[in-house]
Amino acid sequence: MPDKIHTSVDLSGEDIHWKPEGGLSYGRYLGLDQVLSAQSPITDEHDELMFIVIHQAGELWLKLCLHELDGAIACIRSGNTGPAFKMIARIARIQEQLTQSWSILATMTPADYLRFRDKLGQSSGFQSAQYRMLEYKMGNKNADLARVHEDTPVYDEVLAALNEPSIYDEALKLLAHAGFDIPASATDRDWSRPYEASQAVEDAWKTVYQNTDKYWALYELAEKLVDLEYRFQTWRFSHMKTVERIIGFRRGTGGSSGVGYLVKALDLRFFPELWTVRTSL
Ligand code: HEM
Repeated sequence: MPDKIHTSVDLSGEDIHWKPEGGLSYGRYLGLDQVLSAQSPITDEHDELMFIVIHQAGELWLKLCLHELDGAIACIRSGNTGPAFKMIARIARIQEQLTQSWSILATMTPADYLRFRDKLGQSSGFQSAQYRMLEYKMGNKNADLARVHEDTPVYDEVLAALNEPSIYDEALKLLAHAGFDIPASATDRDWSRPYEASQAVEDAWKTVYQNTDKYWALYELAEKLVDLEYRFQTWRFSHMKTVERIIGFRRGTGGSSGVGYLVKALDLRFFPELWTVRTSL
């Protein structure tokens, strides 16, 4: 046994700022008054606070994902891939965190959830503007999905994300800039429309993968993008399975078929040629 077991920290000799001066304190800097007063359960059910917190934490992580993704897109646009890789790597870690959070949600049983589900009305993650913007910036350009944000203060922001080039659009422009024969239908198009895969783009990525030393930055970019998409799909899959576990095949509060709708999204591809090239290498 050690000589002495401590059960509380010895504060003697510490110069603690018991009353922080200068206007800033931990709580004030982080806006904790607002953050911690933003949980307003509408029932007395024990599990509702967890349900609110997990969604709010998810939205905070989405906020950071969007910040990093905007930074990464700007860097790729200017050909500055180094900092973009750092930002993409950070997004991948956030995605891990988001996927991890399903295990907390899964501690809520169907019986627990059904006690307050009816009170949620028509509200659903389907109406998450930040999630939709993330999808658009990754390249899932489904204009119809913006409709749910009409008449909300964030509608213009959602439309801007729809109308701007996605991270993949910028990557393809970079390929063209590096001398690859990329069709104008990929580099100069209506960005609000879904991207259509082409053989020419797959061939370009194939050359990159077959000459990694020569095209190291593009090769690294390709792998970083695959990493993002892999984690995005993992999140989608875990969400779908957690939803099935909790509500079975009931319709969603957002009006969709529920699990059936979430399963459809599993087939989506942001970066189609980066997946098909793996078979043709
Ligand atoms: C009990 C927990 C949950 C259930 C039963 C559930 C259920 C559903 C369902 C059924 C949908 C399809 C749309 C609709 O509502 O009709 C959906 C969409 C969505 N949910 Fe959840 N969800 C849960 C938790 C969460 C959490 C914790 C998050 C985020 C942190 C989240 C984010 C989303 C997003 C972003 C969508 C839109 C997906 C898309 O359009 O591809 N959900 N959810």
